[in-house]
Formats: sequence, C-alpha cells, structure tokens
Amino acid sequence: MKEKFYITTPLYYPSGKWHLGHSYTTVCCDAIARYKRMSGYDVFYLTGTDEHGQKIEERAKDAGMTPKQFVDGLVDNIKSLWQRLDISYDKFIRTTDDYHVKSVQKIFTYLYEKGDIYKATYKGKYCVPCESFWTDTQLVDGKCPDCGRPVIDSAEESYFFRLSKYGDRIRKLLTETDFLEPKSRVNEMVNNFIDKGLNDLAVTRTSVEWGIPVPFDSKHKVYVWIDALSNYINALGYNGDEKLMSYWPANVHMVGKEIVRFHSIIWPAILMALDLPLPKKVYGHGWLLLGGDKMSKSKGNVADPFMLIDKYGVDAVRYYLLREVPFGSDGAFTPEAFLTRYNSDLANDLGNLVKRTLAMSRQYFGGKVTIGTTEAADAEFTDEINSLKSKVDNAIDKLNCPAALEAIFAVISKANKYIDANTPWVLFSKGETQRLKTVIYNLLESIRVCATLLSPFITKGTEKIFEGLNIEKPKTDERAVYIEDNEYNTVEQPALYLRVDIKKELKEMEEKVEKTAEVKEEPQDKKPLIGIEDFDKLDLRIAEVIACEKVEKADKLLKLTVRLGDEERTVVSGIAKSYTPEQMVGKKVVLVANLKPVKLRGIESAGMVICADCGDGVSLVCPEKETDSGAKVC
Ligand code: MSP
Repeated sequence: MKEKFYITTPLYYPSGKWHLGHSYTTVCCDAIARYKRMSGYDVFYLTGTDEHGQKIEERAKDAGMTPKQFVDGLVDNIKSLWQRLDISYDKFIRTTDDYHVKSVQKIFTYLYEKGDIYKATYKGKYCVPCESFWTDTQLVDGKCPDCGRPVIDSAEESYFFRLSKYGDRIRKLLTETDFLEPKSRVNEMVNNFIDKGLNDLAVTRTSVEWGIPVPFDSKHKVYVWIDALSNYINALGYNGDEKLMSYWPANVHMVGKEIVRFHSIIWPAILMALDLPLPKKVYGHGWLLLGGDKMSKSKGNVADPFMLIDKYGVDAVRYYLLREVPFGSDGAFTPEAFLTRYNSDLANDLGNLVKRTLAMSRQYFGGKVTIGTTEAADAEFTDEINSLKSKVDNAIDKLNCPAALEAIFAVISKANKYIDANTPWVLFSKGETQRLKTVIYNLLESIRVCATLLSPFITKGTEKIFEGLNIEKPKTDERAVYIEDNEYNTVEQPALYLRVDIKKELKEMEEKVEKTAEVKEEPQDKKPLIGIEDFDKLDLRIAEVIACEKVEKADKLLKLTVRLGDEERTVVSGIAKSYTPEQMVGKKVVLVANLKPVKLRGIESAGMVICADCGDGVSLVCPEKETDSGAKVC
C-alpha cells in the first residue's frame, strides 16, 4: 500500500480576471503533488472554485447575468488556464456542485443538532468584499483588519457556530505543534485573534440570496466560509460516497497569508466539532506583488498568465513562479525579473548544458556513450549528482520549491563548469577517447538526474530532454542517482529554450499592456444600464444649506440643516475634507430627497448631497442659475 498524500489549493473566487497570483498557489501545489507522485506516494491533489456569496451575486448583477451563468464562464476559463499550465489536479470541486451543497447542508444540520450551532441575533460589523464579520475590537482604525476597507453595521438574526468552545484547543494546536507554518503566521494568529478571545461565529446570512440554504430554515444562507472550507472533506465524499475519505486528513492546505485565519482557526474548530482528524499542515505563503501591491484584476494586465504562456511557454511561467518568490514571504513580479530568470537559468544554464552535451555526444561518438576511464577529480562532480535527490527531498518536505530548484540548478551550474574544466574538445583533439567518454558520460548522467528531479517543476523542457537522451521519462525517482552502467544513444534535439532580447521584449510587453488596458479595462465604477423607470424612482431636489457644523469625532462628516421649500431636514454628508461649515452655509445643492433615513454617528440623516468625485476630494453639484429651494431636479 502506498502512503497517501493529500494536498489542496484554496478554492478561488470566480469574480474577475484570473491573474498570475492565482497561478502561484496552484503551480506550487502542482510541483509538490508531482514530486510526491514520483517519490511513490498515492497523491490526491484538489483544487476548485468558491462560487457563492454576496460579492459574486453583485458582480453577476453588474454583468447582467445570473450568478450561475456568471461563474460558469469564469470556471471554464480557470480550467483552461490550469490545462495550459500543466496542472495535474485529481479533482476540481465547485461549491455549486450538487454533492457539495448536500454535504454542506448535512454538516450544518449535524452541528446544529449537536448544539455547536445555535440561533441568536448578530450585532456587529461586516466587511462585504471579505464576507467577514468583525467585532469592534477586531477592527483596525474602524476598518476591516484583513483588507482595510470600510465595514458596515449589521444586525440580524443569525445562526452561530460555537467557535469560543474550541479556543483552548486551537491555541494548543497553533503553539504546540507544527500545524501552521511559517511560524511568523502563528504569532499573527495568536496575537491578533486568539489572545483577543475567540467569539462565536455568525455562520448564516439572510441578506444573501446566492448561497446554500440552511435546510431547516431556508431564509438563512450558509456563510460562504463554512460552505467553502468544508469542500476539503466534501470532495472526498464526506457524507456521500466516501471512498476517497481514506485521503483524509490532508497533508497540506496551501493558502495565501490573507486566509490563514480561516484555515488555522475556523476550519480546525469545525473539524473538532465534527470529530474528524485535523489536517497535518496549513501553509500560509506570501503574495506575489505587482507594483508593490497584491496582484488584482485591475492591475493584472502585465502579469496575464495566458499572455506569458503564449509568448514564453509554460516552463518559463512555472519556473518563474516556483523559483523567484522566496517561500513564505512576498515577492514582486516584474517583467525584467521574469525575462532575466528565463534567459539566465533556462536558456543559458540548462539549455546550453543540454545543447552542448548532446551535440558533443553525437559529434564524438555518434550518440552512443558508455563510461570510459574515471579520474579522482570526477568524484567531486558525481558526489554532487548523488546527493542531489536527498537535498530536493528535504526541500519538498518543507514545501520549499525555490530551495529545491536552487539545489538542482547548482548541479547544472557544476556541470557547465565541469565542461570548461575538462575541455572535451581538447581531449578529442588529443585522441584521449576513454577519458572523453567518461566526461561526456558524466555530463549525460548529470542531465538525466537533474531532468528527473526537475520534471515535477518544469514539465515541457524535461520531456524534450528525455527525448534527446532517447530514454523514457522516468515515472519514479528511484534512479535519480549517478549510475555507472547506462548505455546512451542520444538523438538530435532542437534548442530547449531560445534566448530573448530583454529590452525588445520589455518594450513589446509595455505596448501590449497599454493596448489591452485601452480595450479591456472597464472603468471600475461602471454600472449596468437602467431604464427611465429606475431613474424615476429618485426624488432629486434643490436644497439650501441654512446651517452647518462639524460632526464630533468624525473628521469626514458635516451635519447640514437644509431647506426644501417649506420643509427643513438634517443631512450628514462626508464632505468635511473638501468644505468647511462656513463655506457650506447659503449654498444650494442637489439632494437625493427620498433616500431612506440612516443614522450616522447617532444623527439621523435624511437624504444625500450629490457631489462629483475629483480624485483628491469632492466638488458639490450646484444649479447654474438661481433656483428655488425644493425645485425638482429632472
Ligand atoms: N475563496 C477564498 C478561498 C476559500 S478556500 C476554502 C479566496 N479566494 S481567492 O480567489 O481570493 O483566492 C485567494 C488565494 O489565491 C490566495 O489565498 C492565494 O492562494 C491565491 N492568490 C491570489 N492572489 C495572489 C497573489 N497576488 N499572490 C499569491 N497568491 C495569490 O480567498
């Protein structure tokens, strides 16, 4: 029986364009999954999409589609990206899959019946983009601690998960085991969440339509994170056809650092409540940054994975992602670094080694090479080849792909130096055939071993290498050591990677990016078309400001008293950074007069003043001619 190895990526939100950041986690997991398969493990690699929630509901509405239509297109697109990137997942789960929906409902019912989920009223803050509830103490400067965006007040009937009950066990898990890595993330979780006290978690929403209904109370939809996290067991058939459950517990949940909290606190608590074993590891890697920020849809142009694969090939993209970002930390994507890696490591070091060695093997021996006479100095090189596998094994056990590649490329560099030190062309001209055979043989061995160990990382080039060596691509790494009795019969192989002119490529990339930006980038605030009947719902009026003062402890807000004909009302407006109270008095402004009143800082605000956004502030929209207060704006 092979030992099992279960590895997962997060389930990605199909809410916009896929960028290189999404490819990062998937390619890392793929390299590890392929490496473990080659090392003899029975691997199950899971990825998929997280398709419910308010954010997707809103994006679909903006695009004039149903949520399912909207996500279907994006899911097809990510699947074709994974195919282009040679991702060898064993299963792709969608949270809209029937079996997943049923499983989530069973889990929810089970936890409710067990008493770990109960009904109460939720009062607190909610961050819509992150779909996260927060308490006041968790907010940072009054904003969402995850994304820094404003939160909204939320008060509604909700079901709660007894997260507080599992606080002690979670603390132990994080501080006394290697469950969460890298270690820096442990401190973050303990200081920011556990030490502040784990509150029970609101796990349903009534304001969201696009979600999994609570089976016994269908106006409530299951909170997206409960829905999404449970995918890791649902994909294995938990509560259904359980034949894959033997892969549980997962060996690794690989996630970006921004969702470590969900995976290292909430997910283990749910599993504890379900009496299931916990995953062996959650690894919270850093971000691939673009221009200093986390990559996003709007900034992802230059790092469009489809474009990079089309131009430079899948190996260039996989190699860059696996090699360049220091594991566990953030790393910046720049086209220069991408092209430099490609040229120096793939085209120069690896490409040249293979090209030169294969060419010499054919030139000197018609491709047929066996070992000749060895010298003491060869041992230094062959020892390096022999110790490579254990170095790569160790790096992969730590999930550290850059370290694995560094070790392999150190041997490639040694091999290039071995050519220069042994000058095969001189041996040939002196007729030292036996010695020449060994030099070429040792080089072929180094290429064979390196290509075997590289094959999980770069998929296309290594296949070509085995074609050139004229041997089958090994399915296991058993022979990834120096062997003395191979008999090579190499064949001609076109260059693996063509060097690129970095300056020229950068210029072309820039032009392309500008063009796509012109054609594709939609303004962030573009809204769907509306009919006149929608516009008619607005009651816009001219209002005269008759008094104005600052709102205490709110540096953006002014409290206006406005007159609309005979009526007076109070309006709170976020214009204090652009106007002083003195400037406001006497102004006639446009007011949305039929906006539902809301309380802001304890003041009831009845309407909204219309302004133009001028980037660094706002500009009031005022009637151009003298107009009576209360006049209709149409
Ligand atoms: N749907 C949730 C995850 C649910 S898991 C049960 C989600 N989705 S996401 O689409 O926002 O994907 C986030 C993940 O994508 C990150 O955690 C990370 O794995 C990957 N990345 C997205 N952008 C990234 C970078 N710029 N850099 C590195 N990884 C990035 O959160």
